[in-house]
Amino acid sequence: DEESQLRPHSFEQYIGQEDLKKNLKVFVTAAKMRDESLDHVLLYGPPGLGKTTMSMIIANEMGTHIRVTSGPSIDKTGDLVAILTALEPGDVLFIDEIHRLNKVVEEVLYPAMEDYCVDVIIGKDQSARSIRIDLPPFTLVGATTRMGDISAPLRDRFGIIGKLDYYKDDELQEIISRTSKVYGMDIADDARSELAKRSRGTPRIANRLFRRVRDFSMFYGEKVISLERTKEALDNLKVDDLGLDHVDHKYLLGIIERYRGGPVGLNALAASIGEEPNTLEDVCEPYLLQKGLIRRTAKGRVATDLAYRHFHIEREF
Ligand code: ADE
Repeated sequence: DEESQLRPHSFEQYIGQEDLKKNLKVFVTAAKMRDESLDHVLLYGPPGLGKTTMSMIIANEMGTHIRVTSGPSIDKTGDLVAILTALEPGDVLFIDEIHRLNKVVEEVLYPAMEDYCVDVIIGKDQSARSIRIDLPPFTLVGATTRMGDISAPLRDRFGIIGKLDYYKDDELQEIISRTSKVYGMDIADDARSELAKRSRGTPRIANRLFRRVRDFSMFYGEKVISLERTKEALDNLKVDDLGLDHVDHKYLLGIIERYRGGPVGLNALAASIGEEPNTLEDVCEPYLLQKGLIRRTAKGRVATDLAYRHFHIEREF
């Protein structure tokens, strides 16, 4: 179907993240030459940049299967043991949001990653004993939006650590062209450029906005997505020309209007605008920092002159 065609299936099809891709190609090729499983991989970076997609490509390129799960969905050690013992040699186990694994579950991963085994306790009290279960060699691919929340013992067990960055404008344009082909809906060059500019460097957002712009165009009986329709759709969706959305606006205007430009602590700001501190930290802040609209200081978050200019607000002292 279209959704599965939208995801690239090989390094060849994957656009952007060139440095990471080049390194992974080397490690995958060398592991295959040795007929070994790939070393464990930790991918980090803001949401929507392709960590899950990359892990699926790793499995494809290794010629193995992938099992997908996430930190918050594994709440007992038994859940993880069940997943690990069901793996086949060389499989990729993808754990999304791996920073949210609880401590006891995380500790099952250490021997699994290092020695391909797990120790399980059988029975209760006096009759309780520990038995060791061997696992097939496998590759753990962990993904996180918060590198700082990964414990040192877990982090140190990954042989390969890769960072995903926001996509450059030309890369996003290429992704949008690919999406346009998959959906069979043409987009004018200037419309594609506008859409890329307003997708905050994030393919997942570019693809979502593409579908909405396509809806607007179809609604008006247009066969090709035009610049005018793109602007209209994105304005209606409250996505501005830097790609900032409603939550980003609340964040920045919160600092500017309620805290005189800051500094303000993350929790105070989050409470005052009715958002989760974690959402702000993982989703909004990385992009606002990258765009130079905020700074993080020891005393809290500060709106920059650029942020004031973006909203045409004069700074008061
Ligand atoms: N679709 C979403 N992300 C992509 C990427 N990085 N390359 C190609 N197609 C994509």
